[in-house]
Amino acid sequence: MNIVLGVGGGIAAYKAAELARALMERGFAVQTVMTAAAQQFITPLTFAALTGRKVITGLFDGQTADSVLASSVEHIRAAQENQTLLVAPATADLLAKFANGIADDFLSTLYLAFTGTVILAPAMNTQMWLHPAVRANVDKLRARGNHIIDPDSGLLACGTTGPGRLPDPAYIAAETSRITAIRRDFEGETVVITAGPTQEPIDPVRYVSNRSSGKMGFAVAAAAAQRGARVILVAGPVNLATPPGVTRVDVESAVQMRDAVMAHLPEASIVIKAAAVADYTVENPPDQKIKKTMAKMSIDLSPTPDILAEVGRNKGTRILVGFAAETQNLVSEARRKMETKNCDMVAGNLVSQAGIGFGSDENEMILVPRTGEPVKLAQAPKPVIANQILDHVLKIRLAVRSGG
Ligand code: PMT
Repeated sequence: MNIVLGVGGGIAAYKAAELARALMERGFAVQTVMTAAAQQFITPLTFAALTGRKVITGLFDGQTADSVLASSVEHIRAAQENQTLLVAPATADLLAKFANGIADDFLSTLYLAFTGTVILAPAMNTQMWLHPAVRANVDKLRARGNHIIDPDSGLLACGTTGPGRLPDPAYIAAETSRITAIRRDFEGETVVITAGPTQEPIDPVRYVSNRSSGKMGFAVAAAAAQRGARVILVAGPVNLATPPGVTRVDVESAVQMRDAVMAHLPEASIVIKAAAVADYTVENPPDQKIKKTMAKMSIDLSPTPDILAEVGRNKGTRILVGFAAETQNLVSEARRKMETKNCDMVAGNLVSQAGIGFGSDENEMILVPRTGEPVKLAQAPKPVIANQILDHVLKIRLAVRSGG
């Protein structure tokens, strides 16, 4: 789910960096907007590095006519692309602007253009928080339907004790999750997802496999279940807990994965193939352990069934999403796989870059849809990427329904 994190100019602005991280761990894709005052306390670079997105710092960031024109509509685009606006810390100044419709910077202009859920986490000196002007503004905002996360009481940076302290970032993130209550936009869908590697036995104790941890596929399964889908997760051998609400089918080899996917295909309305299936398997592995008797040994490999291609041939009205793990030519290879395997979209994964792809907690992808331009998903935790993939699946679903 996309969220705008608006950072106001108070001493608690430093806590917003931790908040950005906590939101991402909960599956939010975070777009940060900083007021000029916030930038006196913490730099945009911190948020850009944490969220993998350029931080919006002003209504008129550039000086040329073109860039002024572009940035003057950016707040409308940000308002349309995001479901939630969370402002933390929300200073007395920002609360006054929001309550009274003053739009003199990016954040206050965005607030007026925003039609989604608004959550405000005020933080300020106790006397300011208790001042009738601030109380009136908070009451006005609450009455308008904005959610207010009340400040904590305690010792404040100014040395006084009382209400006004920004709550713990983990608490604000949890409250944000609760308030936005993950969308149920996959209700009615049955999604078959594959994840992890396959293991192709050489003998009873050895096998051929790859570095897939299953994290990407499991993140997609967790997100789809949270969003209301019935999820069947066909998992290769991985060391991960089953996400809540997900039906898991454990397999080892490519042939077992093929059989499980094809057995559940009749129920599926969406198939997402994140697994790293071995392309070759060992021909006739012996029943007994191979002994170390030869100076050299070789094994014969034969191709495994291409599960994605088989699902593509039997796709019917289902939406089929393939993955492509590549070390080069990502877009052209993803497009080739989409055409040859009859997919609706292929999620291209560059696997030669450190910190993303196999085994890592984060990923970066290029989604290549059948119609439309490729979409780059900036580096982010796998749960964020998973939700972004699902957002695009939903776009395909809506296009199919409207005959597009
Ligand atoms: O599991 P993680 O550690 O989180 O890493 C995630 C990932 C890198 C494994 C994942 O993001 C990814 O890229 N998965 C696809 C890996 C892969 O096998 O790509 P491929 O280009 O070799 O295969 C293309 C597609 O065909 C994939 O959807 C694959 O599931 C499918 N396939 C491949 C071979 C085969 N015999 N049958 C298949 O269905």
